[in-house]
Amino acid sequence: MAKYITMCEVGTRDGFQIEPEFIPTDLKIEVVNRLSATGIPRVEVTSFVHPKAVPQLRDAEEVMARIERRPGTVYAALVPNDKGAKRAIDAGVDKIHTVLSASESHNLANVNMTVAESLAKLGEVAHVAHEAGVPLQGGISCSFGCPFEVEVPLKNLEAIVARLVDFGFQAIGLADTTGMANPAQVRRTLEYLRPKFPDIEWTLHTHNTRAMAIPNILVAVECGVTHFDASIGGLGGCPFAPGATGNVCTEDLVHCLHAMGYDTGIDLDALVEVSRRVQEIIGRELPGQIMKAGQWNRRYKVPRAVEERLAALAS
Ligand code: COA
Ligand code: ZN
Repeated sequence: MAKYITMCEVGTRDGFQIEPEFIPTDLKIEVVNRLSATGIPRVEVTSFVHPKAVPQLRDAEEVMARIERRPGTVYAALVPNDKGAKRAIDAGVDKIHTVLSASESHNLANVNMTVAESLAKLGEVAHVAHEAGVPLQGGISCSFGCPFEVEVPLKNLEAIVARLVDFGFQAIGLADTTGMANPAQVRRTLEYLRPKFPDIEWTLHTHNTRAMAIPNILVAVECGVTHFDASIGGLGGCPFAPGATGNVCTEDLVHCLHAMGYDTGIDLDALVEVSRRVQEIIGRELPGQIMKAGQWNRRYKVPRAVEERLAALAS
């Protein structure tokens, strides 16, 4: 049986959050519904943050309330603090994804807290989530580098993971927020962290800012990681990280994994259709390549002259 890779679609959160024009709530709901209909097992639908920080996602409650809940699909949302966690739980999320940054400067820019203050808040989030019986995944932005500080020591990352594990987080998402990671570094980081926290489910959250997202993911697969975030069409970017651009493109990654013989449970043709629809909604071309090139086994018509030569050869 083909090895199964679990994809989490983050386009309607990480992608839409950076779009300057407000995307009508009905269209956000349409995209979530169409994404889950492709068989994507997990969707990070929206975020419960301060509406002034990310005005685009100020309709988080309404989106959560009105999406169709496909049985078996996990509908998650991102939260920075206990207030966000309470809002997310009231809105009926299946899972809470938290956010803090491994770098002090990016954490202050993103959530107006020091790393220590964020960790204290995430302790409260864990309390609220455990009471409600909602599972937790701790996302760590700038795990592989920070746009302000550049180097992020592995020891700092380890200390943050240790605190989240102490709080009872079952899953950790290592985020390469501005596409600074390279495959050798991803291998080094995973080989260092995974044995120290053997019971944790690891997710890699990549941005393709420097064209290293898929190479990084393939190395992570070799290291045993089976969970990946991606954005439809390659949407995405953190509004509080200079130079941030889109996530790895979901359909390009799914195409690569399927071509290599992995199973994702996703209907790739349907995914490409959603990507085209998202392009229409946001009114510009997205970086996704498969929707332009077609799949690897796309067969073009042979030119007439070549057809004649082939026919002559065959006779
Ligand atoms: N949702 C809605 N409102 C929130 C909130 C949340 N999750 N967290 C705090 N607030 C409200 C508080 O209730 C308070 O309201 P009041 O003034 O009416 O009492 C106000 O915001 C200030 O609270 P405070 O804790 O001081 O927050 P802050 O102003 O320092 O902002 C964050 C901190 C985390 C809420 C804000 O920086 C944020 O939402 N950042 C999100 C960043 C993001 O989404 N980045 C991209 C994803 S990686
Ligand atoms: Zn991201």
